[in-house]
Amino acid sequence: MCGIVGYVGHRQAEGVVIEGLRRLEYRGYDSAGIALAHDGRVASDKRAGKLANLEKAMIDHPLPQATTGIGHTRWATHGAPNDVNAHPHLGSTGRLAVVHNGIIENFAALRDDLEDAGHEMLSETDTEVAAHLLELEVCAGADLTTAMQSVCRRLRGAFTLVALDAEDPGRVVAARRSSPLVVGIGEGENFLGSDVAAFIEHTREALELEQDQVVTITADAVSVSGFDGTPGEGRRYHVDWDLAAAEKDGHDWFMRKEIHEQPRAVAESLLGRRNAEGLLQLDEMRLSDDDLRDIDKIIIIAAGTSFYAGMVAKYAIEHWTRISVEVELASEFRYRDPILTHSTLVVAISQSGETADTLQAIRHARVQRSRVLAICNTNGSTIPRESDGVIYTHAGPEIGVASTKGFLTQLVACYLLALYLAQVKGTRYGDEIAQVMDQLDRMPAHIQTVLDADESIYALAREHADARSVLFLGRHAGYPVALEGALKLKEIAYLHAEGFAAGELKHGPIALVEPGLPVFCIVPPRGRDQLHEKMVSGIQEVRARGARTLCIAEEGDESIRPYADVLVPVPAVPVLLQPLVSVVPLQLFACELATQLGHDVDQPRNLAKSVTVE
Ligand code: F6R
Repeated sequence: MCGIVGYVGHRQAEGVVIEGLRRLEYRGYDSAGIALAHDGRVASDKRAGKLANLEKAMIDHPLPQATTGIGHTRWATHGAPNDVNAHPHLGSTGRLAVVHNGIIENFAALRDDLEDAGHEMLSETDTEVAAHLLELEVCAGADLTTAMQSVCRRLRGAFTLVALDAEDPGRVVAARRSSPLVVGIGEGENFLGSDVAAFIEHTREALELEQDQVVTITADAVSVSGFDGTPGEGRRYHVDWDLAAAEKDGHDWFMRKEIHEQPRAVAESLLGRRNAEGLLQLDEMRLSDDDLRDIDKIIIIAAGTSFYAGMVAKYAIEHWTRISVEVELASEFRYRDPILTHSTLVVAISQSGETADTLQAIRHARVQRSRVLAICNTNGSTIPRESDGVIYTHAGPEIGVASTKGFLTQLVACYLLALYLAQVKGTRYGDEIAQVMDQLDRMPAHIQTVLDADESIYALAREHADARSVLFLGRHAGYPVALEGALKLKEIAYLHAEGFAAGELKHGPIALVEPGLPVFCIVPPRGRDQLHEKMVSGIQEVRARGARTLCIAEEGDESIRPYADVLVPVPAVPVLLQPLVSVVPLQLFACELATQLGHDVDQPRNLAKSVTVE
């Protein structure tokens, strides 16, 4: 939510900042802005709408050359997405500029104080108060680092702030509290970004910061301190993906590219998980086997697509380990006073590692002395750092706002966790675990088989370009897939779409069915006879009422053919692993339908990739 870039070095800052914003635009695209330190003054431009509007404006009104700059791409919280509310915000004298991600909760009181003291606020944002407060400090003689420390001590809420002082042009100062910020370490230049995509073109060396830290970058140095001024240090790491991963590679959308990357993403998330004896090992799991043996309840918390991965995990963990599992929306979790003990394991699933709802939920769990394990795709992000252990997924950067490869690799991590718990607790024999691992190892090839038939799904999507509503039915592990299929369609095609547990249909939703309504049916494998039979009944019920049934079923399942208007075959795999293949046609369908409707698939309206406000 909001992308932030900072640069000090030997290049023209304008190019570096705009390129960084382009790579961060998936985080928010309501407006964009830039500020450069030039000749003792801030030179700045900012425009409502996508980055392209700012770039166009800068052709008509070029900014002066400078080697220090900051930039911002916005997902609006306080104030409408217009030119005035766009960042950067400047103080009254024009020497200081600030960009901000997050919410300053006590901004109203600070704003009143500033206005009483004669400061004129131009925007409706909470950010502008930070610009004025910082300017007051530097005008009183503080350097920008000291000013930032002092101002941050007065702010409440979650925020990343990045500032420059044009009278001290060789430095950019930033601060973070519960909001993302990483430092890129170059040679004779340094960078700041909401995530590493902002600077991956220039360096793969990064520095992760802790909460409540201020960082100062110059061309040659990076220094870290606490809000109280005590010296600090970040954790340095090497980013294990490169610029190519952050580009579309010939695809029209990042989402389409990321769907097609799924075989590799799944394979990489499985890599190195078995030791020489064939036993499962989860290296980044900082919880001991003794800790895990004590676990008697698991609560999975997550949001959106990650929540659906958690729903699948429940089936797998309970089946393989007999530990009871609850799955809860992160935004609801701490408000219901959940029962948590030291023997409860809280599993937080988050692609970005920055989702505020999930972060606040794990903080609540840790206060209650529960152990927290994160499943995350983003090295250096907050949720894994605040957890007792982490299983990293290896999807590479996910840039399309709609999660795809993030979801599949989360499923893999959930299966690995379930099998690891089964190994530690002895609830499954070693050869059973090895058999599932072998089945998982075959999944990349199965996913590729589904992708190889992408053209037939695209044709199906084009046929349904005028649909006004689409339903999705599933049972067991197919139920979360139905919910995920509906979510994909809602978020990028802006189409009414709902997922249901097929058995629930007759309890109300079947009233929605009318002639011609497309209904996707996720058919479980035939091995699970009862499930399969019940699903077939559900399909017949909707078909009898005129629905057009689009059935995703395992190859060779001829029993479905009489009830399927369209049959989408997927490779035959065990029921618990079926989501890895059955969700893929739904992702392709949503991507193509949204394309047909002329929507911006990677940047759907009103959304942002990582939701860092509650
Ligand atoms: C849907 C989507 C969102 C995210 C949700 C959680 O396609 O991307 O629903 O899944 O905002 O995000 P993370 O996993 O980053 O915590």
